[in-house]
Amino acid sequence: MLVTKQPVLRRFWYALMPMSSLEDGPKPFTLLGENIVLWKKEDGTPAALRDRCCHRTAKLSKGFVEGDNIVCGYHGWTYDCSGACVKIPQNPGNAIPAGAKVPSFHCQEKYGYVWVALEDPLRPIPDFPEDGAPGYRRIFQFYEEWKTSPVRMMENSFDNAHFSFVHKANFGILDQPTPAPYTFTDTDYGFEAETMVPIRNPQAGHQITGTSDAITNRHLINRYYLPFCRRFGCMYPTSGIDHIIYNCATPIDDDHIILVQWLYRNDSEEAVSTQTLIDWDAAITAEDRGILEATDPDACIDTRRRIEFHMPSDKPGLMIRKQLLDLLTAHGEVEVFRT
Ligand code: FES
Ligand SMILES: [Fe+2]
Repeated sequence: MLVTKQPVLRRFWYALMPMSSLEDGPKPFTLLGENIVLWKKEDGTPAALRDRCCHRTAKLSKGFVEGDNIVCGYHGWTYDCSGACVKIPQNPGNAIPAGAKVPSFHCQEKYGYVWVALEDPLRPIPDFPEDGAPGYRRIFQFYEEWKTSPVRMMENSFDNAHFSFVHKANFGILDQPTPAPYTFTDTDYGFEAETMVPIRNPQAGHQITGTSDAITNRHLINRYYLPFCRRFGCMYPTSGIDHIIYNCATPIDDDHIILVQWLYRNDSEEAVSTQTLIDWDAAITAEDRGILEATDPDACIDTRRRIEFHMPSDKPGLMIRKQLLDLLTAHGEVEVFRT
């Protein structure tokens, strides 16, 4: 699927970057092929416009913030958060032409990130219940560009068959390639998939898992949020530790995503340091990145590539594809492929 060619995808919220990125001025971002400038207003909330001045097309992200407004760095035309030009410094006292404006986008802060919807969103930003829950701490893990598609990333997020191979140097058990089956529940945002997965527990992971058993279990309650977010809800029954990751595979264009990842833990900094948790998950995710960037990003969501479906454990992948396909159909779209 070419995500930039599916208009309905413009009607969802995507996490673009940490709010802290806007502390030192406006920033550019490309979402579904649309160039955006983000900045922070005086009340601390973010704003988003097309990153193109209506005067002579300069990128507004090269400019600066003045109060609630953004100032083009070329000749100083100034825009408010609705995209209306409110000042032309070379022409003071005269009316601003009615056409002097740039498109604006829905923009808000949640979970410490700037979220944007390019067109009227079909549903709110998902509710992640661990955020602010007593006993849980939120840890920003990483934010990086991957050469893959968000569909590939979502497939991989629920694909327990890759553990034994991609993660064999880590927690995967190479000689146990048959994955434990999931139990599925439909939800109003996508679906939930629950399973119990045995994993290797090398010494380097003892702090994370909270146990020194050679083999331990992960009780997974994973969730898919249409179109490109997921919860990796990992609980270690032996220790009672929850290690709950949220990912947004935010589509830059048809071949690239920003992978946004943060974590909730129900333990303390004294028990396991933030840096240890970042380093541990970064090493695992680097293994996923290595293999995902070796795939064709043109992930097909219809049934043409039946060969991909001949693995019983790929049911969540099929469910993701079906939900995406149903979304397109409900909005009168057909899947657009690379030709
Ligand atoms: S191009 Fe932006 S003010 Fe001239
Ligand atoms: Fe993985």
